[in-house]
Amino acid sequence: MKKLQNKVAVVTGGSSGIGFSTAENFIQEGAKVIITGRNQEGLNAAAAKLGENAMAIKSDASNLADIDNLVSFVTENYGKVDILFINAGIFLPTQIGGVTEEFFDIQMNINFKGAVFTLEKFIPILAEGASVINLSSINAYTGMSNTGVYAASKAALNSYTRTAATELAPKKIRINAVNPGPIDTPIFGKAGMSPEMIQGFAQMMQNRIPMKRFGKPEEISKLVTFLASDDASFITGSEYNIDGGMAVLV
Ligand SMILES: NC(=O)c1ccc[n+]([C@@H]2O[C@H](COP(=O)([O-])OP(=O)(O)OC[C@H]3O[C@@H](n4cnc5c(N)ncnc54)[C@H](OP(=O)(O)O)[C@@H]3O)[C@@H](O)[C@H]2O)c1
Repeated sequence: MKKLQNKVAVVTGGSSGIGFSTAENFIQEGAKVIITGRNQEGLNAAAAKLGENAMAIKSDASNLADIDNLVSFVTENYGKVDILFINAGIFLPTQIGGVTEEFFDIQMNINFKGAVFTLEKFIPILAEGASVINLSSINAYTGMSNTGVYAASKAALNSYTRTAATELAPKKIRINAVNPGPIDTPIFGKAGMSPEMIQGFAQMMQNRIPMKRFGKPEEISKLVTFLASDDASFITGSEYNIDGGMAVLV
């Protein structure tokens, strides 16, 4: 039997990168998947690729009314959720000294507030034995230049994950965080970096990774699928670095 047979999975930010790859993997393992994003064209293209076991709904993670609509949509169409992959996120690099309130709010509202309220609003329809996975980042533990607010948004998410694990355990809901290192997705292009900057950043990053390469979205989705499955039935409140060894290199 497939690992996620008959499970219902919600993947926020499922139209691209890690979220899309995970939606593909969930479906291969037998799940029905609902993906979200803000861009309708991207969602349509992703849903077409994922096929009949996927539905796409436009929903901005930083907008609480949108999250309410998403929960209503899932409730009406599926009744419950077994897997909640809270993955929607953005990366906006800037140096300390150049942080505006708008820059702070955009990043915190999607990466942290959006994650908190996605969980908050899905709790009533999370099934017994449900698994929640928060997509964080290795940046939660690094002091990499230009990442101050992004890194703090992910560190907050990891802290929140630990408390949520304690409080949700009596409901038999597991929650864990995954901390990727640099992964080859469109996120860097969306960060306002020029192709030359991305090239320079990629070179610098690879020099800091013992495995000397970026990760691939499929490498993250396999770990997320494991945590989503009953194979991880005794795992909650944990964090997994998946970074080619970056976190251990001094
Ligand atoms: N790539 C990396 O190196 C890396 C490393 C560590 C952690 N991460 C984390 O991994 C997650 C996924 O990133 P990725 O690399 O796969 O990036 P990506 O390819 O840019 O995908 C991001 C996804 O999130 C969606 N999204 C962004 N803002 C959203 C919002 N407000 N509401 C709903 N959906 C939203 C995007 O769709 P729309 O644009 O249509 O909204 C897209 O589907 C993020 O949380 C990121 O911080 C990435």
